[in-house]
Amino acid sequence: MLDRAAKTFFQLLARSGTLKKLASRYGMRRSESFARRFIAGEAVQEAIDAARVLEARRLRLTLDLLGESVTNLEEAEAATRQYLAVVDAVVQSGIERNLSLKLTQLGIDVDKASAVDNLRKILERAEPAGFFVRVDMESSAYTDVTLEIFETLWSHGHRQIGVVLQSALRRSEADLTRMNALGARVRLVKGAYKEPKTIAYQDKGDVDAAYERMMKTLLTSGHSPAIATHDPAMIDTARRWVHERHVARDAFEFQMLYGIRRDLQTMLVSEGYRVRVYVPFGREWFPYFMRRLGERPANVSFVIRGIVGEQR
Ligand code: FDA
Repeated sequence: MLDRAAKTFFQLLARSGTLKKLASRYGMRRSESFARRFIAGEAVQEAIDAARVLEARRLRLTLDLLGESVTNLEEAEAATRQYLAVVDAVVQSGIERNLSLKLTQLGIDVDKASAVDNLRKILERAEPAGFFVRVDMESSAYTDVTLEIFETLWSHGHRQIGVVLQSALRRSEADLTRMNALGARVRLVKGAYKEPKTIAYQDKGDVDAAYERMMKTLLTSGHSPAIATHDPAMIDTARRWVHERHVARDAFEFQMLYGIRRDLQTMLVSEGYRVRVYVPFGREWFPYFMRRLGERPANVSFVIRGIVGEQR
């Protein structure tokens, strides 16, 4: 109950323009600032530096240029140009070539065809350079269109792309069957958005049970699946399942968010599992940051300590 209330509260805050402005002004000002625990920085070079530190710890990475819900085509084109620049910077740096992006950042709310064009432009530069590009899943308003665009690109021969499914949505188990039949690489998450009960499980127990069912299906019949969770009990279940079924450790990967459960990330790597860290960066960090706070209200005290420290 409290979990749901916190999620709703922080999702409302995420939409506040005033807070966003304030946070952008103060949040990243100092290297030890409160947002830096979860966001690698504002500039691509900061993300690359963070990626190097992760790679030294034998972690894999995916870079996410933060930004979502653009409201006009100019912003969508600007985001696309920024992504192209990120591709170039990553190639130059020599770090692993793996990106995550959101369709609302590329203009899906403004014009679907332009958003697809923008995504194509990014893929045309990234795929020949050996990148893998994951299309993040946003709220349920975008599930159909995201899967549809993914399938269209797939049918046009794009293979270095992947999709995300959210166990919170009742429809996702059917979507998983559809994606597995396609041969698509799925990242499984619980779901970061507050959704109505008509289409989504409301009890954490139900979300977790669906996650476990989908995870087991992916681990035995998925295509290089990504088990994206920080939930230690779920990770234990995955480890037991792959052990019992003799699933090779390089047939799948765990994924976690930058700055969350670093202890668990290190432990899994030391046991020989693949672990990929999602590294968000960029000036538009506020909505992402609010979603992370909503998932775990204990993070709020961490933030408050950061703010108080900032004023001293
Ligand atoms: P759960 O919320 O049950 O938490 C289990 C435990 O994990 C907690 O008890 C705590 O120890 C730790 N934990 C979880 N969140 C934490 C936090 N914010 N701070 C500190 N500790 C925390 N969602 C989505 O809708 N679309 C997407 O495309 C993606 N993409 C994505 C990529 C990757 C790599 C990850 C790891 C996650 C996503 N998500 C996502 C987010 C996902 O849907 C979900 O909201 C979060 O991962 C939190 O859920 P958990 O599975 O971690 O478990």
